[in-house]
Amino acid sequence: MVSVKDVAVAAGVSVGTVSNVLNHPDKVSPATVQRVQQVIAELGFVRNDAARQLRAGRSRSIGLVVLDVGNPFFAEVARGAEQRAAEENLVVLLGGADQSPERESAYLDLFREQRVLGVLITPVSDDLAALRRLDAAGIPVILVDREMPEESFRSVSVDDVEGGYLAVSHLLERGRRRIAVVAGPASIPQVADRLEGARRAVAEHSDATLEVIEVAALTVLEGREVGERIRLAQDRPDAVFAVNDLLAVGVLQALAFAGSGVRVPEDVALIGYDDIDFAASTVVPLSSIRQPARMLGRTAVDLLLAEPEGAGERTIRYRPELVVRESTAGVSAN
Ligand code: RIB
Repeated sequence: MVSVKDVAVAAGVSVGTVSNVLNHPDKVSPATVQRVQQVIAELGFVRNDAARQLRAGRSRSIGLVVLDVGNPFFAEVARGAEQRAAEENLVVLLGGADQSPERESAYLDLFREQRVLGVLITPVSDDLAALRRLDAAGIPVILVDREMPEESFRSVSVDDVEGGYLAVSHLLERGRRRIAVVAGPASIPQVADRLEGARRAVAEHSDATLEVIEVAALTVLEGREVGERIRLAQDRPDAVFAVNDLLAVGVLQALAFAGSGVRVPEDVALIGYDDIDFAASTVVPLSSIRQPARMLGRTAVDLLLAEPEGAGERTIRYRPELVVRESTAGVSAN
């Protein structure tokens, strides 16, 4: 699908100029109008009337509410949404729920009051009252990184069960058999799905065991505390799957230092999830499960701007990808 940005690049003008040619040609020189219109014809660009209609009736803002603005994964989601929104001359207002249903609800009510074009959200809670109030006010809601098949909301997400399965199957292929999964809170569906995938992988190996180490939050600090417990344990696991890269980085910090007595990956292999930029440059480059975070953000805006009742896809689910680095290299030393 030819975008406004494609037209802008081909015509050698800004996205805003293309938008003006489409909406306010009187603001643009005749020569530029002619050049842009010629490119539109050559590329076969078809404007998205839903976007213009939405814009005509409301602000140029899209609300985005994420679980944790401190997590690079969500920063990438926001970057993708912002890039796609800018192609339509729209802006993204970012709110961080920080795992708080109250903060989430406050952002949703604020976006409803501001009559934003729509709201993209990774929900913290399963209390859908605030989301339904948006829907009732005619403000479209797009779920990001979540699915709710039983609800009417369109969604874009990643198959986290497959992701958990990929992570632990990789550890098992590397000869590891005492798998620890650093997970939690289990109330986060993405976490529960990754754990389910991990269990399915272990179930395929009669000589493998799985231990779940629950944490209160998916942060580096929580990972470090778990890593310290693993370092001091008598019966250590020979592999760790951390359900996101922040946890994995914390575990690595607690294990991979001179004199720790534990080598990564020789004694304990380690894999994370998200493949944030930082994962490749940790002291022992981190294996991870890549999520197309920026594409999640872009696609969420596409879903928002698609015809509300259009026949287009309503539930888009991307597949995760295994990224192998040094933290899971070789076979177990045990
Ligand atoms: O917010 C917890 C996790 O869920 C993130 O690290 C990312 O993996 C998301 O899917």
